[in-house]
Amino acid sequence: MDFGMRNRLNKIFNPDTGKTVMLAVDHGYFQGPTTGLRNFKQTVDPLLPHADCLFVTRGMLRNCVDPKTKTSICLRVSGGPSILGELSNEDITTSIEEAIRLNASGIGMSIFVGAPNEDRTIANLGRLVNEAERYGIPVLAITAVGRDMARDARYLGLACRIAAELGAHFVKTYYCEDFYKVVEGCPVPIVIAGGKKIPEMDALKMTENAIKEGALGVDMGRNIFQSDKPVGMIKAVRAIVHEGATAEEAYKIYEKE
Ligand code: 5RP
Repeated sequence: MDFGMRNRLNKIFNPDTGKTVMLAVDHGYFQGPTTGLRNFKQTVDPLLPHADCLFVTRGMLRNCVDPKTKTSICLRVSGGPSILGELSNEDITTSIEEAIRLNASGIGMSIFVGAPNEDRTIANLGRLVNEAERYGIPVLAITAVGRDMARDARYLGLACRIAAELGAHFVKTYYCEDFYKVVEGCPVPIVIAGGKKIPEMDALKMTENAIKEGALGVDMGRNIFQSDKPVGMIKAVRAIVHEGATAEEAYKIYEKE
């Protein structure tokens, strides 16, 4: 791995701990003005200093993020369908040149395993890795599974392994029972998405379990920005990821905010 690739990965994964708290705020690329992100700047500005990396689309980055930020950027580069369409019908929407121009430390796209367009999205991942490696840019593969498929260790494990086989440098997936099996089968770092908003304590417990079972961090959105105390919540998640706090200890940080 050359210097550029390693340097960018160190901007995403905090070199002090080898782990990352990514703040996912890309939801609008298919959901429009999602709850909590309607006024993007108002929500994201106070959270940004507490994130190692912001996962965001180019449009929101260009229009709503202060270029003075010290937080690194991972750019979502896939899209196409809205929430009303066939979600797996995604293509690459943002070029490598744009990612470089925006000083992204990484780029991310979804693969849809077990969905109507799985083959195209997986082939797109291979092509994106080919291009990104030319410039030393790490690629995050986001594993979505078909609507009828359980989000369990079998299917998430399948999706994560395929992503790694195609060359993804790190993978985002969901936490599930027997998550350690997903980690075991995937030779590149895994970060977890938070999924739908759940009670704060449950989200912190999920984070603690994921880290204990081998995740190298989170790329979390709704369970942070839809919380009643978003700053408290991101600080709590940080304590688990970077300091090995328990969910109970982290909950106190959330409450105190
Ligand atoms: C949507 C995404 C989101 O970034 C991902 O789902 C993380 O957000 P959340 O924690 O809200 O699930 O990739 O496709």
